[in-house]
Amino acid sequence: MDKVKIIELLNQDLEGEHGAIIQYLTHAYAMGEGEMSCEIEAIAREEMRHLDWLAEAIVELGGVPSLERGKMRMEGKSVVDWMKNGVMLEEDAMAPYREHIKLIDDPKIKRLLQRILSDEESHHGDFQHFVEKAQKEQAKDVRGSRQDRTTQILNQGIEHEYTVILQYLLHSYISPNKEVKRQMQDQAINEMQHLGWLAEELVDSEGNPRIEHTEVDRSARTADMLRADIKVEKEVAAAYDHAAKEVKEPDLKQLLLRIRDHEVYHADVFSDLLKEEEK
Ligand SMILES: [Fe+2]
Ligand SMILES: [Fe+2]
Ligand SMILES: [Fe+2]
Repeated sequence: MDKVKIIELLNQDLEGEHGAIIQYLTHAYAMGEGEMSCEIEAIAREEMRHLDWLAEAIVELGGVPSLERGKMRMEGKSVVDWMKNGVMLEEDAMAPYREHIKLIDDPKIKRLLQRILSDEESHHGDFQHFVEKAQKEQAKDVRGSRQDRTTQILNQGIEHEYTVILQYLLHSYISPNKEVKRQMQDQAINEMQHLGWLAEELVDSEGNPRIEHTEVDRSARTADMLRADIKVEKEVAAAYDHAAKEVKEPDLKQLLLRIRDHEVYHADVFSDLLKEEEK
């Protein structure tokens, strides 16, 4: 099989991982704090590692990782339904992995897909177990329908965080600069934390997190990537600063200021990298 075809198959797998991450996070947040939501978030983190490995393999083959999000199973209103969706989504994932393992002869990639498949088999069992657990514990959707300035601020934050997570991951995969790669990965993980904090805060405030993103910068040159990243960090630091002044709840104010400080730090880190890159 030629490289172009392998890249295409791996990108399909990567898109599937992306869909799974968002499906699982949406449902974990919607269930509120607890053991089961923690376990589901842990599965989402494993899918993130899969996404990362697939993206690295794609870049090694000379491809560009896709930012498209694959299929999600969001139907159903109860936690039991969502856990059944998890079982089905894992089945949706296992079938193509098995097929791609057969089709691809590169031993390194075969081994990687085998490794991922074994995780998906384990997740499949986990979700079957969660279906029973959700029934037994009568787990509920704890989201509310509050819609006001506070929930709007939190959802705007989530949208921003999701966008930069994708952007920094893409930049980390594409840039040949090792230090840029490392920092982009590191800051993407920090943005994932922000997304989680904001989504949990939103559910606690009886809102409904909407995990969607806006346009991602696809610059090919490292300096252009860094310029785009600095620009977005400066904008968002100002937006969080403004939002923190606007909200009345002291805990929320504190959270927004903490995130703002991180964004200021990101802008500084990226500015230093740009200076180095331009030398
Ligand atoms: Fe999985
Ligand atoms: Fe952030
Ligand atoms: Fe940031």
